[in-house]
Amino acid sequence: MRKIPMDYACEGMILGRTIIDSDGNIWLRSGIELNEHYINRLIGMGIRYLYIYDDTFGEIDEGADVISEETRISTVKMVKRSFSNLQKDRKINTVALRKVINNLLDEILDNSRVLLSITDMSTLDNAIFYHSVSVCTLAVMTGITMGYDDTRLKELGIGALLHDIGKAQYESGLVNRVGNLNEEEYAVLSKHPETGYAIIKSYGDLSLLSAHVAFQHHERWDGKGFPRRLAGDKIHQYARIVAVANTYDNLMADRPNRPPYQVTQAINLIKRMSGIYFDPQVVAAMISNIAIYPLGSFIKLTTGEIGIVCYLNPEIPQRPVIRIITDKYLRRLQKPHEIDLSRMRTIIPIEIISEQELSKLLPRLSGVQEW
Ligand SMILES: [Fe+2]
Repeated sequence: MRKIPMDYACEGMILGRTIIDSDGNIWLRSGIELNEHYINRLIGMGIRYLYIYDDTFGEIDEGADVISEETRISTVKMVKRSFSNLQKDRKINTVALRKVINNLLDEILDNSRVLLSITDMSTLDNAIFYHSVSVCTLAVMTGITMGYDDTRLKELGIGALLHDIGKAQYESGLVNRVGNLNEEEYAVLSKHPETGYAIIKSYGDLSLLSAHVAFQHHERWDGKGFPRRLAGDKIHQYARIVAVANTYDNLMADRPNRPPYQVTQAINLIKRMSGIYFDPQVVAAMISNIAIYPLGSFIKLTTGEIGIVCYLNPEIPQRPVIRIITDKYLRRLQKPHEIDLSRMRTIIPIEIISEQELSKLLPRLSGVQEW
């Protein structure tokens, strides 16, 4: 299985992962063969990436994800419903919200030794909801590393999931727009922390600390953030965690005006922002939870070969098991083989190759034909 940009989808390819529409309903099941009609519909839905089966690439250890696809989808739906309820002047269903958070927490705790391999599978119209779930997952993982108990993890989790709920009052065109905001639009959007605080605070059964996450997630460690220019530990620790998770997930997202950052680039940038934008202790705790070479990513090795990360060694995550798929001349191998970098110390990963770069290296292919 491998992930490809939508532009490279061809008739005859076999879908590797079920496609969910923006309401969380199943639209195309895995195993189905793509045809022109499906491809056009997927493009129309704003789908940017697909997983397809490819014998050479084999299976990836996807059971090792921090949260299951099912939990991710139900949590995305919950955030979406909360936004739309507020837009229709209805209430957030806090009982359902707490249930969703409990579920998410249980899964993360069950997989507490698993590292996060973020893959952005959002579409343009639901990006903010997927983003909220990723931020929540990363924040909770960080809270666990920092020794939080169950109560604090839930307060943090709800705050992280609803950190941008103040944006529910704006029309979606403004919320999903990246860059090109005029001064007036910027002024309007920058009110979302206060609005979010007021919304969450109005629910007696949600913690005031969760409301403060929404209020403070754009504050900076050096006091140059907004809305109140709080600095250092005047910013609640939950909000300091969500600030880093928010920036990390934004860097990993595919935007119309730029490709997603690679994990190593994003981590380096976050490290450079540590002590200026972010609390260094939080940055260290968060980075320890992120897989530098995410499952399913393509890696170029010092040998010149390209391989796909198929298993992460929990003890030495920077040296995963790689399935070698090309020789050093980038010719596809007839019989891919796996090497465990934790045992082969002389072979070193050089760089991650993006799905776009890899797809450029490969001609368009159906199923398992030769490159
Ligand atoms: Fe925000």
